[in-house]
Amino acid sequence: MTTQRVRKAVLPVAGLGTRFLPATKTMPKEMLTVVDKPLIQYAVEEAFEAGIEEVIFVTGRGKVVLEDHFDHAFELEATLESRGKTDELARLRAAMPGAGQISSVRQQAPLGLGHAVWCARELIGNEPFAVMLPDDLVLTPPGQGVMKQLVDAHADVGGNVVAVMDVPRADTNKYGILDVGADDARPGGLAEVKGLVEKPAPEDAPSTLSIIGRYVLEPELFELLETQQKGAGNEIQLTDSMARRIGQSPFHGLRYEGTRYDCGSKLGFLQANVAYALARGADNDPDLGANLAAWLKQLPL
Ligand code: G1P
Repeated sequence: MTTQRVRKAVLPVAGLGTRFLPATKTMPKEMLTVVDKPLIQYAVEEAFEAGIEEVIFVTGRGKVVLEDHFDHAFELEATLESRGKTDELARLRAAMPGAGQISSVRQQAPLGLGHAVWCARELIGNEPFAVMLPDDLVLTPPGQGVMKQLVDAHADVGGNVVAVMDVPRADTNKYGILDVGADDARPGGLAEVKGLVEKPAPEDAPSTLSIIGRYVLEPELFELLETQQKGAGNEIQLTDSMARRIGQSPFHGLRYEGTRYDCGSKLGFLQANVAYALARGADNDPDLGANLAAWLKQLPL
């Protein structure tokens, strides 16, 4: 099947980060660091790795530092240069997107994820697009990020494809949950989506297969978002509009390969820091993982 390539990604980053106060009083939660890199940079790198060419931030007031992070920092770069810190300088420059690869629109009021995505409609136009929630961080082998896995699956089956994982039944009220049709339950397998419910109570959940923050969606979704009534949490939910596309075109959940950390929670954020340090270390500190492992072992747990 021929499908249109995914070239653009929407990153909703207008949230207030209330769960991380006071850290996020003046700093966007997407600037919280896992080891030495802010969450926003992980998401942008994952998008580019998947072949995406343009990343659109849906931002809010007080979040301009997110755009600054992907621009030159002249004073810093000049100082590094004059001090001969060539490795640091090279790493900063290598992480810079090309001209025009990052744009942003404002979500003026916190009306929900569905509304945030709808705010990017003019920049997306009439083509399939990705949505990435930077709070969800997924550790995968290098070069096999979740967005790449989704884009590859979309190239095969088209339509809408969302990243999914099984969660404990007690947690279904935190996620968009699938009603599953034909299912390949192997890692990397696809589950046909028959229904979708946002944050159902455990006793009402049609399954325990939940959406994590990576999506490839069809542009037809924007028309539905425009008239979408408020749903769970009294917010305009992306899940509710997605549910209205079921039956119109192929719709699958991808059991992606990787370990997901919910960096919107303190526990998930701390786990991500430990897991990333152990698995990847740091560019300028190759011994970080081994040193951390040794220290963890001697903790009086
Ligand atoms: C959002 C979506 C939900 C999804 C979750 C993944 O919820 O609405 O469907 O399962 O992200 O992290 P939020 O975490 O913003 O409440």
